[in-house]
Amino acid sequence: MQNYNYKYYEPLEQMIAVRHQYMSKIIKKFTNLNIYEYLNNKKILDIGCGTGEFLKNYHDLDNQCIGIDIQKNFKFKNVNGYILKNIDLKGFIKNNKKKFDVIFLFEFLEHLNLEDRKFLFKNLFNLLNKNSLVFISTLNKNIISRFFSIEIAEKYLKLLPQNTHEYKYFIKPSEIQNLAKSNKLSLLDISGMSYNPIFKSFKLSNFDLINYFGTLSS
Ligand SMILES: C[S@@+](CC[C@H](N)C(=O)[O-])C[C@H]1O[C@@H](n2cnc3c(N)ncnc32)[C@H](O)[C@@H]1O
Repeated sequence: MQNYNYKYYEPLEQMIAVRHQYMSKIIKKFTNLNIYEYLNNKKILDIGCGTGEFLKNYHDLDNQCIGIDIQKNFKFKNVNGYILKNIDLKGFIKNNKKKFDVIFLFEFLEHLNLEDRKFLFKNLFNLLNKNSLVFISTLNKNIISRFFSIEIAEKYLKLLPQNTHEYKYFIKPSEIQNLAKSNKLSLLDISGMSYNPIFKSFKLSNFDLINYFGTLSS
């Protein structure tokens, strides 16, 4: 695995607002609460948390947060209720006894090999309390997503370091649906996300052939 640096994590910071917007939309639709009412005093796990910056926002909203990442690029120190662990997915799951109300899998699934992906989905239900939510963002698998995320974003615009992505690990919404179904989870939603390279911003969109969000529920 390559050693990531700030250049790798910088574009992800541009996704913070759209993720919050997506979660707000889903939480409103499925719980009728606003995100600030719902994401309060919850137990949140961020798998592949990167710098921990996204998760920090939800600790600031008084949630108990754990972030795990195989690399140690954490921006913030651990404090009560905000713990970042430098551990891989398998190591964490094998030793974990906690259950969570919300799990984040943001820009994570497309970095997992197929064995680890299977392992994650096999164990996801047991990591969750009843009626919990799993928020996902990832890359769809087709020639368009391959062209834009590798040829354009990595090689031409150089928005990301080369070899950030391996096409074979990209995942279609239908694959998420099948993995969810065979592991006692329901797929509540799939929504597209589009990128504007001029404004360097992401927004929710009906176009889900490249980047998309998904939500699972236990
Ligand atoms: C594209 S980054 C996403 C970071 C963060 N979720 C975000 O969106 O800002 C993917 C992260 O997953 C981590 N990762 C990859 N494989 C992992 C594994 N098996 N266990 C834990 N973390 C892993 C990488 O180190 C990297 O920080």
